[in-house]
Amino acid sequence: MSFFSQLIGTGSAFPEKVMTNADFESFVETSDEWIRTRTGIHTRHIADIRKGESTSSLAIAAAKKALEMAKLSGKDLDLIVVGTVTPDSVMPTTGNLLQAALGAERAFSFDLQAACSGFLYGLSIADQFIRTGAVQTALVIGAETLSTLINWQDRGTCVLFGDGAGAAILTRTSDPEHSILGTRLYSDGTKGDILKIPHGGAKVPHYLPEYRHKDHSIHMQGSEVFKLAVRNMIDASMAVLADHHLTPEDVDFFLFHQANVRILEMCMKTLKVPREKTWINLDRYGNTSAATLPVCLDEAWRQGAIKTGDRVLMATFGGGVTWASGLIRL
Ligand code: UT7
Repeated sequence: MSFFSQLIGTGSAFPEKVMTNADFESFVETSDEWIRTRTGIHTRHIADIRKGESTSSLAIAAAKKALEMAKLSGKDLDLIVVGTVTPDSVMPTTGNLLQAALGAERAFSFDLQAACSGFLYGLSIADQFIRTGAVQTALVIGAETLSTLINWQDRGTCVLFGDGAGAAILTRTSDPEHSILGTRLYSDGTKGDILKIPHGGAKVPHYLPEYRHKDHSIHMQGSEVFKLAVRNMIDASMAVLADHHLTPEDVDFFLFHQANVRILEMCMKTLKVPREKTWINLDRYGNTSAATLPVCLDEAWRQGAIKTGDRVLMATFGGGVTWASGLIRL
């Protein structure tokens, strides 16, 4: 008997505090006009760490909503995968914090680091475990508090990112039609320098004299990332479609990583995606890294933009660099 993974629930969560473009004007040389026209971002949510908001608190809130939609409880989970580059701590993992908070006694859990591709990497891994029969039900999360890794003096990056979390529940099905049809995952470490966080890991820990706090933050060569993101998301989209002998015309809805509205427009133009067949929310949330795709999925599903039977294509690009695509039939 063959097994497949069916998507049965999604959820998302954001910190309370909203930061507008105008808020940045008081401490970096920027303007609401520049940020809106060059990125498409209007506002983003920023976690208040001192009030207990963190990657795990957002992930837990998103997971609870996804479990509720799936009509399951934590006890039903066999696997928890969290895509994040901003875990609350290295140990315990965010996955383990979730496991405890959700009472997911029988689940094994882990975090994975693939930057903005974390959710699709997690979805693909969970799908493999379900297909082998090792796991029945999995929780896949993309959750970030990138605001903790921002250099607030760097106008080229500080305006771009926001905090948030998205969750998805997959469960075993024997129906290949309504399932995760396929995923494609890619990495290219030779281009790691174009989007990186150089200090703060085990190579340059905080107690070494060469440690610089401003290097424990996001460093990005914006235009290089921009070009590669467009090209690789298009290529990855075409690759996963080709695996299934499909073309963009066969897709009902497209979800692209939310980094810059101009990147989305270029992907849409090349793949001939009309505006009504995609979800854009980066105006409200900015780039929430691994959280963008599950949040889009959650919003599009709950608001009826996607429905049972639809083929949904997702594509992403992230630091380090990583990129991925995934094709689901709801
Ligand atoms: O999640 C991973 C994927 N991340 C991405 O995909 C991000 C990809 N990159 C981008 O979205 C864009 O490259 C940025 C939004 C980061 C930058 O936009 P750009 O149109 O590529 O601008 P640029 O870097 O070429 O800079 C043009 C000018 C520069 O000024 P000069 O040197 O021409 O005087 C920048 O200093 O814009 C300046 N600039 C700003 N001006 C006002 C950069 N950031 C800002 C800012 N406000 N916030």
